[in-house]
Amino acid sequence: MAKMAATIGEHGEDAFRKLFKFYKRRSPAPDLSDVIDFSKAAKHEKVLTTELNPAAVSDDEARRAGLRPVKDWRAFGLLGYPGFMFISNPFMPGSQQHWVKQCLKTYPQKPNVCNLDMHMAPTDTQDIWGKSADVLRKPASRIREPKTLLEKLRWVTLGYHYNWDTKTYSADHNTPFPSDLQSLSGHVAAACQFPVFKAEAGILNYYRSDSSLGIHVDESELDHTQPLLSFSFGQSAIFLLGGTRREDPPTAMYMHSGDVMVMSGHSRLLYHAVPRVIPSPEGDPLHPSLEAEGLGSVSDQGLIQDPIQGETTLIQSVTKEDWAVCSRYIQTSRVNMTIRQVLGPGQAFPSKDKRTETVMGYTDGYHDSQDGENVGLKRRRSSDARNPVNT
Ligand code: OGA
Ligand code: MN
Repeated sequence: MAKMAATIGEHGEDAFRKLFKFYKRRSPAPDLSDVIDFSKAAKHEKVLTTELNPAAVSDDEARRAGLRPVKDWRAFGLLGYPGFMFISNPFMPGSQQHWVKQCLKTYPQKPNVCNLDMHMAPTDTQDIWGKSADVLRKPASRIREPKTLLEKLRWVTLGYHYNWDTKTYSADHNTPFPSDLQSLSGHVAAACQFPVFKAEAGILNYYRSDSSLGIHVDESELDHTQPLLSFSFGQSAIFLLGGTRREDPPTAMYMHSGDVMVMSGHSRLLYHAVPRVIPSPEGDPLHPSLEAEGLGSVSDQGLIQDPIQGETTLIQSVTKEDWAVCSRYIQTSRVNMTIRQVLGPGQAFPSKDKRTETVMGYTDGYHDSQDGENVGLKRRRSSDARNPVNT
């Protein structure tokens, strides 16, 4: 594989697309030996240590959000990517379960928006969890049952709802950002030297084992001085981080359950993509960090298990009933939350008449791309490289 990367690098042009296709390929399976694994102690020539600010978040604040004390986080940088930070699973054992449950049960609820809303009536997408949970709780039957709504979920938007057609956010479509996720994001940003970060928009992506996410830059936010945060749960995946130009060859790295990435400064506007989900080996379908029992994890009643009497926590333990559904889903899926600040301090959206007119359509989150590109004239307007696609 080292040879493959070098060959592509020499040609320069379209190196990103070639590597995207290389990692996406099923047969023969690609050699993954060049993929950086931050969870492994082994040193890699490109991996740097990075300075966090442990004083920005107290140990109590961190614990309330399900995070370990910041001084214990394992944070890395990457040579050639200033502003990029990778925090290898900073969550306490047992607390990822809360975020997984929120992504599957809570955040898809109204007034948040999801891909299913694009072609279904609001009454039909009102209770995605309720309509799916019973089926998913049952042991897998040999007869192929129709997919549940939860299995059809591809994206959810929070806060300022991203419009996939116009590629903009707007003041007119803004709903309250979930307070637990706001706190989690604020703590991570503060620890990474961004004390005034405000979580205003979220895009949650839901990946099946054959999904990928096309090559793109996140540039629709009006303020790029604040970071973009990414939280991954469930199955591992490969992330490709490129350059400011489409043809710059990317660096490949694993994202495991619990991993957090921060794209800021020079790295805020770099091309990136997710060519492949890496399913866990059979018989060991959950990442070890999701199996750990611990504080705030799975309980009989779903009560908040306070480590300290009377302390309020953001993290709720997940009931056994709910975890049965979540763990079943996450055994073959990956969920990623990307959190963004849209406006700078005092900034406002441009007035409507100044915006160029855009033809409205809708997206269901799918596009036909095989190689990381949006394809097809008809679909170009109504889809986005940022929607996970199944092949
Ligand atoms: C995005 C994104 C990466 C991921 O939503 O913009 O790049 O890991 N997601 O899903
Ligand atoms: Mn992105």
